[in-house]
Amino acid sequence: MRTQVGIVGAGPAGLLLSHLLHLHGIGSVVLEAHSRDYVEKRVRAGVLEQGTVNTLVGTGVGDRLLREGLVHHGIELRFGGRPHRIAFERLVPGRAITIYGQQEVVKDLIAARLAAGGQILFEVSDVVPDDIATACPVISFTHDGHRRRLDCDVIAGCDGSHGVCRAAIPDGALTVFAREYPFAWLGVLAEVPPSADELIYAHSDRGFALHSMRSPSLSRFYLQVDRDEDVAKWPDERFWAELRVRIETVPGWRLRDGPVLEKIVTPMRSFVAEPMRYGSLYLAGDAAHIVPPTGAKGLNLAAFDVGVLTEALAAWYADGSTGLLDEYSATCLRRVWRVQHFSWWMTTLLHTFGDDDGYGRRLQRSQLEYVASSDAAAASLAENYVGLARV
Ligand code: FAD
Ligand code: DHB
Repeated sequence: MRTQVGIVGAGPAGLLLSHLLHLHGIGSVVLEAHSRDYVEKRVRAGVLEQGTVNTLVGTGVGDRLLREGLVHHGIELRFGGRPHRIAFERLVPGRAITIYGQQEVVKDLIAARLAAGGQILFEVSDVVPDDIATACPVISFTHDGHRRRLDCDVIAGCDGSHGVCRAAIPDGALTVFAREYPFAWLGVLAEVPPSADELIYAHSDRGFALHSMRSPSLSRFYLQVDRDEDVAKWPDERFWAELRVRIETVPGWRLRDGPVLEKIVTPMRSFVAEPMRYGSLYLAGDAAHIVPPTGAKGLNLAAFDVGVLTEALAAWYADGSTGLLDEYSATCLRRVWRVQHFSWWMTTLLHTFGDDDGYGRRLQRSQLEYVASSDAAAASLAENYVGLARV
């Protein structure tokens, strides 16, 4: 097989890249380890920045997003028994976020690619990127019981944090920056109408809690739990009781509960591999960088990377110019590090770091009160949260 861009991974990064390239007349083949059903049902992110929404709508894959997405003009920070609204409409006029599940974005992109005759091979195994230091890279893989070979001009490694593409880069070519946090998130999807109109980020002495949603009848919650927490230790009753203690802290506010559809534990970490290119291999999305989810940024950053990569490849195919490709990594990393800082900051602000950290807790409280009382501080949070237009 031969294509122009060989893409490993049918997550948001790989699928959006394939879609954007197609609109520029550039061919690609997407190789995905899991089944279509699996990737379309994997519940993860829910917050889309304005820029991500604009990209999806502007390229013809935003119809359902515009119909079903929930546009929010603010979020609530809850601490000290009081709600504090970060009002986007006042602090960052004209900018908002949209709540629309990552798996819905994935479904829309798969449908668009297949309708346009795009090639996505699901359930491939033993994917091996090869000859990546040369101008003729190859991807070998097994599909339908046959070993196959995909020759391409470039490879896009969009295979997430545990993929094979970053691992194919020789030792010493990448510098890795990482930070582990001493906690994880227990994510729960429940069949119950949201208990509030906007997201609630709750800071409490017992740990962080987040109230989010997916639709008028589906709520999404996250609880800070121990790093290697076993999900089996969180039967529904314990989950609801702990969530209540952490989030029902405002007089008169009540949490609605309902049947739990899914529960999963996600460890929290920050990670960046630099540069995001080696020879003919370009890394994008979680394959190159991970942020803790407190800032709701991972999917949005993946969308940004593939937008930059598309423009660079389009220029190269149009007239052979390599300038944008050469700048790909530096262009992406400027935004990556802004988002790394914001995600680390939100995480450090809102979680608990052990009972003995009295000094740290007082710093958190001071910063929370500053954000709640100063428009300058709140505007900084707001502009990072909705997504900076330029970095
Ligand atoms: P992935 O979605 O991981 O896709 C990679 C794909 O590659 C997968 O389909 C995988 O199966 C495939 N793959 C892996 N290895 C191979 C291989 N060897 N061969 C072939 N295929 C392979 N981000 C936000 O922006 N907003 C949020 O609100 C938010 N909340 C989050 C909440 C949670 C609980 C979690 C876990 C994440 C959250 N994120 C959020 C982050 C977001 O989900 C990720 O950043 C996003 O999925 C990255 O997309 P990606 O395409 O780079 O990687
Ligand atoms: C959701 C996830 C996040 O990481 C976040 O910060 C806000 C909302 C969500 O899945 O709805």
